Amino acid sequence: MKNQLITLNINGEDMDLVVAPTDLLVEVLRKKAHLTGTKKGCGQGDCGACTVIIDGKAVLSCLTLAIACQGKKITTIEGIADRKTGEMNPIQKAFLNHGAVQCGYCTPGMILSSYALLCENPHPTRQEIRRALSGNLCRCTGYILILDAVEACAAEGGVL
Ligand code: FES
Ligand code: FES
Repeated sequence: MKNQLITLNINGEDMDLVVAPTDLLVEVLRKKAHLTGTKKGCGQGDCGACTVIIDGKAVLSCLTLAIACQGKKITTIEGIADRKTGEMNPIQKAFLNHGAVQCGYCTPGMILSSYALLCENPHPTRQEIRRALSGNLCRCTGYILILDAVEACAAEGGVL
């Protein structure tokens, strides 16, 4: 199958990229757009490490074809800090302040799933947070501190 030139809108900017029809978004983000904040864990939809936001929804980029993302708005972990100042987003600060990061491998996916939740539902219950993060696995933190961080971020004014 022939490579093709596509345009993806990533973190508010259009990027022209040459991809194969079978290229997965996670690989295109990491290897062609050089946005390595998005992690690849299982590569089969089980761990959530590759989570990005597409048109407002948390999506697994390891199960998404890059060519299917044309015309959509993709947000990666690199795209949620303040564009002008570079200051971290409140959800990133909350993860740091609550000790919700250890090795950090799951963290971009956890943060983007949390971000998508808080955009849609600024005051989620603990159970709603659990449900939103149920597809994101963490082998280090035991999850409690992550739930605390999301809850605190919501209580302190949310992500926007
Ligand atoms: S790498 Fe996509 S779900 Fe694990
Ligand atoms: S902090 Fe290590 S996997 Fe979550």
